Amino acid sequence: MAPMTIDFQTCFIFILLSFFSFFCYFFFFKKTNDLGPSPPSLPIIGHLHHFLSVLPHKAFQQISTKYGPLLHLRIFSFPIVLVSSATMAYEIFTTHDLNISSRNAPAIDESLVFGSSGFIVSPYGDYVKFIKKLLATKLLRPRAIEKSRGVRAEELKQFYLKLHDKALKKESIEIGNETMKFTNNMICGMSMGRSCSEENGETETVRGLINKSFALSRKILFVNVLRRPLEKLGLLSLFKKDILDVSNRFDELLERILLEHEEKPEEEQDMDMMDLLLEASRDENAEYKITRNQIKALFVEIFMGGTDTSAHTTQWTMAELVNNPNSLEKLRDEIDMVVGKSRLIQETDLPNLPYLQAVVKEGLRLHPPAPLLVRMFEKKCVIKDFFNVPEKTTLVVNLYGVMRDPDSWEDPNEFKPERFLTSKQEEEKTLKYLPFAAGRRGCPATNVAYIFVGISIGMMVQCFDWSIKDKVSMEEVYAGMSLSMAHPPKFTPVSRLSL
Ligand code: HEM
Repeated sequence: MAPMTIDFQTCFIFILLSFFSFFCYFFFFKKTNDLGPSPPSLPIIGHLHHFLSVLPHKAFQQISTKYGPLLHLRIFSFPIVLVSSATMAYEIFTTHDLNISSRNAPAIDESLVFGSSGFIVSPYGDYVKFIKKLLATKLLRPRAIEKSRGVRAEELKQFYLKLHDKALKKESIEIGNETMKFTNNMICGMSMGRSCSEENGETETVRGLINKSFALSRKILFVNVLRRPLEKLGLLSLFKKDILDVSNRFDELLERILLEHEEKPEEEQDMDMMDLLLEASRDENAEYKITRNQIKALFVEIFMGGTDTSAHTTQWTMAELVNNPNSLEKLRDEIDMVVGKSRLIQETDLPNLPYLQAVVKEGLRLHPPAPLLVRMFEKKCVIKDFFNVPEKTTLVVNLYGVMRDPDSWEDPNEFKPERFLTSKQEEEKTLKYLPFAAGRRGCPATNVAYIFVGISIGMMVQCFDWSIKDKVSMEEVYAGMSLSMAHPPKFTPVSRLSL
């Protein structure tokens, strides 16, 4: 009798599952007429349940691994188009780039932090084109970066001396905190020159304000998404106070530094970013008349966009090196051979250090500080002739997913810098490597970011030994706006050179 019962039960479950799958296929997973394929969803909440127990980039990765690289999702009634492969990313950033070159509306108009004067939240139009051109031809062009080399060299020396001091005292450090100070000092020095230094406490103030802004990022994001209902309910002012408080403190600081720059204009060869922006604002023939508030907001965005991202990348990459001693050894050999042991690495060494470049790229591939790119389809469009997207639909490109896609990368979760030594240029064109996003609104500062991360990792590997009893935990968490380490390790550096 027993076998009969089992057979009957198996049959029954099989029939039930078949009905259920059939039901799901027709009612949830079918190709809808107005959008593309979508995984099974729940009534009312849509696909929200996928995000309840895992970090968003991992939830998106799990969904796309199961259902495909181009999907339509729904969180309540908000539609999302999810892109998760190199081929689809290529399609989006080539055919549809103009249509996805705007982000969400600002959270609070009058705020310098993600307010309406900001460049990052500005729709792709005259202002954005003007700043992009200014960044490419003046602020971040190779000659401007060359001119500010001295600022970075001095900061690198100070960073080294600090670690050396810690090593002498056998004190531990958290690499993320130290690199945050280092990148912040470099950005302050490059953008505002003499007016912003560690001695007069200005860099410390900027760092404090950046941290405060990041701490408010969830609030900002919340207001960003729910601005209209909050306004209707008269609740917006509840969220304004903290955000405007940080904004006012940034405003005070930047106004003072702007006045200083106006009172003592620099000689052309010593002009920093602020001098160049002030010059552009006074130019009667400029294609766009940039306002004082826009200059201040751009600085806030450069501080926020540049500091955290570079610092987290350095911290993740160092953690990978410590967990992969063979790569650490190989990198050290390269640096010892090219730079030697009698002087500190400099940024002019970077082109001669291919393995260091590969290490940085691999760190960024595995741990992009901005793992999800969120934009909006301005107008309705059709992707690949079958996927209909209505206007104002949110786009999510899972940069993390694309860069760990097993169809594009061998051993996608392994730290193997060697892969970048052999990759061919055509391969990179497929957009499988996307830590800086791509297209019109991709990161304009990739060259600076590679320098920041390259010299800090180069210096730490050249001058110190790093070890830890157990493996460093690579668990992730969102802190501020970047993907951070959930358990940032503490290391006691051991000097291997005395420079
Ligand atoms: C490892 C370091 C960095 C990474 C991984 C990174 C990544 C990114 C990404 C993914 C975007 C595009 C977001 C989107 O398309 O929606 C972006 C935009 C931007 N980044 Fe970076 N970034 C880094 C460093 C920097 C630095 C050092 C600066 C400034 C000095 C900077 C300034 C900006 C600005 C201004 C934008 C906005 C561009 C626009 O809206 O057109 N970033 N970054």
